[in-house]
Amino acid sequence: MSPSAGARDSGRVDTETREFVRQLAAENRAFWVGRDVRLDPAAPRETLERQLRYRMRQGVYNELRAAELIAAWIPSVREREFRDLLPGQLDDEQRHYQLLRRRLRELGEDPDAWEPLPEWEALFDWLVAARARPTLEKLAMFQFAGETQSCDGFETLIRLAEPVDPETARLYRTAILPDEYRHAAIGQQALLLLADTPGRRARAAEACREMNRRVFEAYAAHRRRADRGG
Ligand SMILES: [Fe+2]
Ligand SMILES: [Fe+2]
Repeated sequence: MSPSAGARDSGRVDTETREFVRQLAAENRAFWVGRDVRLDPAAPRETLERQLRYRMRQGVYNELRAAELIAAWIPSVREREFRDLLPGQLDDEQRHYQLLRRRLRELGEDPDAWEPLPEWEALFDWLVAARARPTLEKLAMFQFAGETQSCDGFETLIRLAEPVDPETARLYRTAILPDEYRHAAIGQQALLLLADTPGRRARAAEACREMNRRVFEAYAAHRRRADRGG
């Protein structure tokens, strides 16, 4: 048995690993307090409406790149648990892409005319290139750190969109957010199964920190551009 096969073979996760995952989740949450600057809850209605629309346009691109990066990662993920789960995520992300494009068209926009922000492009290029990193680090970065924060971001978006554009809020709440919670749970499962030595825990924690920093840079750039009008 390889040293990493313990939790995966026995189905039992030791207390130390569980505690590590709990602490890392708390560290990620603490990092994000006040840092998701894409929407301003205090902004006047027209500004908020503009920020929401901007967020949706960029969201189309992000869902497409999420599908691309999962597809890029699948061949290098050898752990059977995640080989079962990642194709389902790939399917979800491409469905989100189509749903957001359709909603933008209903709102009178051409979703394919959007030029993605270079900062988001750079973030996804970096993630696709991370295919060579171990499964634990990849899933700690995107699913555990990134998609857990995305769920919080979607919760905020839904709350703020409700009075402004209830149909869009409903779409996010019913057709996107439940899937994103499932994706975040894949990240949690990866940590519980694979972060079973001090060295692996240190690398997983560092991967989350790196991801958080990079995502925050993308959020800040996103907001600067949204405020400038594109
Ligand atoms: Fe998605
Ligand atoms: Fe996702």
